[in-house]
Amino acid sequence: MLVTNPKLLKALADLRVERRPGVRLASWTSLGIGGTTDLLLVRERRHLPELLRLLRSNGIRHRLLGGGTNLLVSDGELPWVAVRLARIEPTVRIEGTSVWVDAAEELGRTITTCAKANLGGLEGLVGVPGTVGGALRMNAGAYDAEIGKVVREIVIYRAVYGRIDTLPASQLRFRYRRSSFSTCDILLGARLELVERPYREIVDRIHVCNFKRRASQPLTEKSAGCIFKNPPGTSAGRLIDGLGLKGFRVGGAMVSDVHANFFVNRGRATCMNMQRLIEDVRERVWKAIKIELEEEIVLWVN
Ligand code: EPU
Repeated sequence: MLVTNPKLLKALADLRVERRPGVRLASWTSLGIGGTTDLLLVRERRHLPELLRLLRSNGIRHRLLGGGTNLLVSDGELPWVAVRLARIEPTVRIEGTSVWVDAAEELGRTITTCAKANLGGLEGLVGVPGTVGGALRMNAGAYDAEIGKVVREIVIYRAVYGRIDTLPASQLRFRYRRSSFSTCDILLGARLELVERPYREIVDRIHVCNFKRRASQPLTEKSAGCIFKNPPGTSAGRLIDGLGLKGFRVGGAMVSDVHANFFVNRGRATCMNMQRLIEDVRERVWKAIKIELEEEIVLWVN
C-alpha cells in the first residue's frame, strides 16, 4: 500500500518516520519472496503509539517487519504498509551480567558483543538470523539455548492500551517457538541476564554450534529456516526426509536437499509456489504417518 495523502506524509515526517516508498519486500526477507509496499522506519520509539494511531485513523493497515528471516510474504501490491524499527546506537548496554538490548539489533551481533564482555549463555543461537525482537517473539532456540530463558524484562508497545510498558519476566511466558505477546504488540527491547564466562570458552562453543549448523543446514541458500515446528518427540526434518521428499519442488520452491525442514527459493519462487509446497508436504506427512505439521514460519499471505 502506498501512502499518498500529503497531510499524512507531513505528519510522518514530523514524527521522524523515514518512508521508503514502493519497496519490494523480497529484498527484506531471507526467502527473497514478497511484494511491494511502503516501508516506514521508526527512529524514535516514543513516537510509535502516535504513528500507529495516525495510520489507523487514515484507514491504513500495517505489519511490523523485523529481520524478515522467518517470514513468507504475498507477491504483488500488498494491502498494508510495513513498519520497521530503525537500528539506533547504542543497541546494547552492559551493566555487570545484565544486558539491555534494542529489539532492532541483530541477534548474532548481540551475542558477539556480549561475548567480548565475557558474557555467555546464548552461544547456540549465534547462527540464527534476524533481530532480537523477532527472536523474542518466536522464542528462538537452537543447540540447547533459548532466548526466553534469559529474559528479565521487556519494553513493549501494547496495542490494547496504545502505550509503551515495561514488563518483568514474571508477566511473560515463553514456550517452544512461542511467546505470550499478542500479534499486535511490538517489542522494543529487552533486559537479559547472562552468565560470566571467559571469551575463549564462548568462542569455542560458538565454533562447535556453527560447525554443526554448517554441516546440517543449507546456509548459503534463500530460506526462512525451519518451515514447520518439530512435533513432540521428533524432528519434522527427519519425518519429511523419511518420505523421500528432499529435492521435491513446486516451481522455484524446493525442499532442501541438505535439511528437509528448510524449503529454499531456487531463484524465482513465488509466494504461491512456497505455499503449495508447504501444503503438499504437510498433506503427504499426514497421509503417511498421521502427524499434522504446524508451521513455524509466519505467513503474511492475503
Ligand atoms: N534429520 C534427518 N533429515 C533431515 C534433517 C534432519 O534425518 O533432512 C535428522 C538429523 O539427522 C537429526 C534429527 O533429524 O538426527 C534432528 O535434526 P537437527 O539436529 O537438524 O534438528 P532439527 O530438529 O531438525 C532443530 C530446530 C532448528 C535448530 C536445530 C539445532 C526446530 C523446528 N528446528 O532442528 O531451528 O537450528 O534444531 O538446534 O525446532 C529454526 O527454528 O528455524 C531452526 C532451524
